[in-house]
Amino acid sequence: MKEIKIESTLYVFESIKETPEDVQKLMGNAAEARLEAYAPYSKFSVGVALLLDNGEVIIGSNQENASYPSGLCAERTAIYYKGAKYPKAKILRMAIIAGSQKNPTTTPIPPCGACRQAIAEYEVNQEFPIEIYFMGASGKVVKSDSLSNLLPLVFDKSVL
Ligand code: THU
Repeated sequence: MKEIKIESTLYVFESIKETPEDVQKLMGNAAEARLEAYAPYSKFSVGVALLLDNGEVIIGSNQENASYPSGLCAERTAIYYKGAKYPKAKILRMAIIAGSQKNPTTTPIPPCGACRQAIAEYEVNQEFPIEIYFMGASGKVVKSDSLSNLLPLVFDKSVL
């Protein structure tokens, strides 16, 4: 038996103002998208913005449903829209802002496990890392240089 250690590197910015200007702009797009989240059940709103290599910005927000499991997270709403509209474009960067509508959320909120799996599909196919920035409604911002930092031991097409 041998031990295997898995390491991930993340970067933490004290606030959005510490991040580069183009990241602030993309996070601004995500914050606007968050305002349109349809989250009457959880009262937890998430906004996402994707910057593509063709210069387009794709947005998404969480869309809930009275039949709870039929709802969809913001990340997958955005990434599947990208897949439908610009299938050939590469995703350079993803900005995520998330928080409760009732209490201000200052903890950076990473994408859920199912969304990480969905993002992995696109990162693996485009053979180019997706930068991911995530934050709460305010406060610290976390950056990952690639989805792979958030999902080590990925399950992808290479095993099929
Ligand atoms: N949600 C997202 O949009 N993204 C995530 O990564 C985690 C959770 C949404 C789903 C649901 O509408 C609400 O947040 C509470 O789980």
